[in-house]
Amino acid sequence: MSTDTDADADDESTSKCGASSVSEAETESSSSGSKCGASSSETGDDSKCGASSSDSSSGSKCGASSSDGDSSNEQEVGATIDDFDADPGQLTAVGLGPGHAEGMTERAKTALLEAEHIVGYTTYIDLIPDEITEQADELYDTPMCGEVSRTEEAIDRTLAGNDVAIVGSGDPNVYALAGLALEILESKGATATMVDFDVVPGVPAAQSCGARLGAPLVNDTVSVSLSDHLVPMPEIESRLHAVAKESFTITIYNPWSRKRRENFQKCCEILLTHRDEGTPVGIVHGAGREDERVMITELGELEDLGESEIIDMTTTIVVGNEETYVWDDRMVTPRGYETKYDY
Ligand SMILES: C[S@@+](CC[C@H](N)C(=O)[O-])C[C@H]1O[C@@H](n2cnc3c(N)ncnc32)[C@H](O)[C@@H]1O
Repeated sequence: MSTDTDADADDESTSKCGASSVSEAETESSSSGSKCGASSSETGDDSKCGASSSDSSSGSKCGASSSDGDSSNEQEVGATIDDFDADPGQLTAVGLGPGHAEGMTERAKTALLEAEHIVGYTTYIDLIPDEITEQADELYDTPMCGEVSRTEEAIDRTLAGNDVAIVGSGDPNVYALAGLALEILESKGATATMVDFDVVPGVPAAQSCGARLGAPLVNDTVSVSLSDHLVPMPEIESRLHAVAKESFTITIYNPWSRKRRENFQKCCEILLTHRDEGTPVGIVHGAGREDERVMITELGELEDLGESEIIDMTTTIVVGNEETYVWDDRMVTPRGYETKYDY
């Protein structure tokens, strides 16, 4: 089973941000205590970093709150646009797709090559081909620190005059940082146009995983995340009920972690109150990554699989609708053509 440090995006803070042990906090501090400039890897020496005063970029203290096990401080936004005297650079939220280099769009590769600084969770930075990261002046990666401090770091670097790419898996608009970047920009008194903000889409996990399963998503589909880091579990349960009782295919993101066992069990219970236990379910772990695994099973079997290696925080689960069937090891959700055409 993967550990919680394998988490994607918003799960990092659910798992280990505000680290619970001193050694975790030390790891964070040593690799990522940057305040716009002190990056973990510098590949060039001409970057423009820092606000106009020596320590005014005070918000991006990734890891600073970890030593006492309190992650709340990192939610504070520090420097405002008034603290920077440079012309702002470009900030681009880049979706890397599922994981392998071939899964990245050309536009994503170009955006990364054009960025002076690349900021992201360590796992995502590691997914970027070396020939791209070698071109960057600076890489700033945080192993297990929160997405708020990392996003603010990217913004402060942009306000200091650098062209910055902030990266994430899949698409930046799917349970990811594009919205947070705009919110933090706004809170700093900046505008999206002031920093030339752009989003480069990537292939979301639902689509990467759907592709591995056959054709389960070709009709109306709704995604639900089981991460209760930002949305309370009662609200997630209510959304699950609402979706499961209708004829949607459901993609379940963030399905399982050690801290989220009960959420997964509750999810399975809710699905079974609305859907037959024979409903086809596809499970894809690590789509497009070296440890990719794919399984097609039935809804009645899902809960027990929560304790198996295939379901963790790099897994997406696809629950078919009442018309979804399995044919020759492929999930098929009819689009409805059969109601109009003979074939
Ligand atoms: C915070 S969300 C980020 C989603 C991402 N922005 C996207 O567009 O796919 C993290 C969740 O995405 C899913 N995920 C991300 N990469 C995946 C992959 N390679 N294979 C399967 N699921 C993945 C998992 O459900 C994981 O818990």
